[in-house]
Amino acid sequence: MAEEDRRAPAAVVFDALGLDYERAFAGSAPHRASLGRLLELLAPGSRVLDVGSGTGRPTAQILGEAGHRVLGIDVSPVMVDVAARQVPEAEFRLADIRDTPLAEASFDAVCAYFSLLQMSRAEQKAVVAKLARTVRPGGLVALATVPLDVEGVEAVFMGQPVRVTSFSAAAFTALVTEAGLSVLAEEQTLFTPDHPEAGPEPHLFLLARREAD
Ligand SMILES: C[S@@+](CC[C@H](N)C(=O)[O-])C[C@H]1O[C@@H](n2cnc3c(N)ncnc32)[C@H](O)[C@@H]1O
Repeated sequence: MAEEDRRAPAAVVFDALGLDYERAFAGSAPHRASLGRLLELLAPGSRVLDVGSGTGRPTAQILGEAGHRVLGIDVSPVMVDVAARQVPEAEFRLADIRDTPLAEASFDAVCAYFSLLQMSRAEQKAVVAKLARTVRPGGLVALATVPLDVEGVEAVFMGQPVRVTSFSAAAFTALVTEAGLSVLAEEQTLFTPDHPEAGPEPHLFLLARREAD
């Protein structure tokens, strides 16, 4: 009998995708524009947490090359290995954000680009609230998601079976503000990943600031 796979569902998908994910998504101009908006507001040498850091590119690499101290965490061992090899200027650790304790106000900024989509709605809300507490008052939170009003929908993503949960753009923005964050910038686009099995998908990028205490 096959041994039970105890990995988190996201780890199973992203262990299988590895660098294919980067090839399909790293060309996203709106993703780089979102990083540009974050970079404009970061003080030199800021401490940044990248949640669901994937292959490390483009997020950790661009922030690291700009001189910021980046810690990436990811639930996929393959992604952590790839990122550590590709982006030596950042640090990467294997961790599930849902059960990783993070000290209050311990980062100047937190990023989470497309890393919430395999969590339940309650988990996504709890994670955004946790990230809001993890940045210092006045600190920045950069988020990206696929803004669709879906819950537990089975889909095929780049050839991998996935179960996806998300929110409409309005509902996602509302949960961000409910977490004590003020939205500074919002961009919605349609992006077609560079992959034969991919079609256009909506992307939402938010840059928010933790309100001062
Ligand atoms: C769609 S990829 C995005 C990667 C990267 N943020 C980017 O935009 O290029 C999502 C990443 O989040 C990671 N991830 C998903 N759920 C996670 C969790 N609960 N804790 C930590 N990482 C998670 C996945 O393993 C994957 O590497």
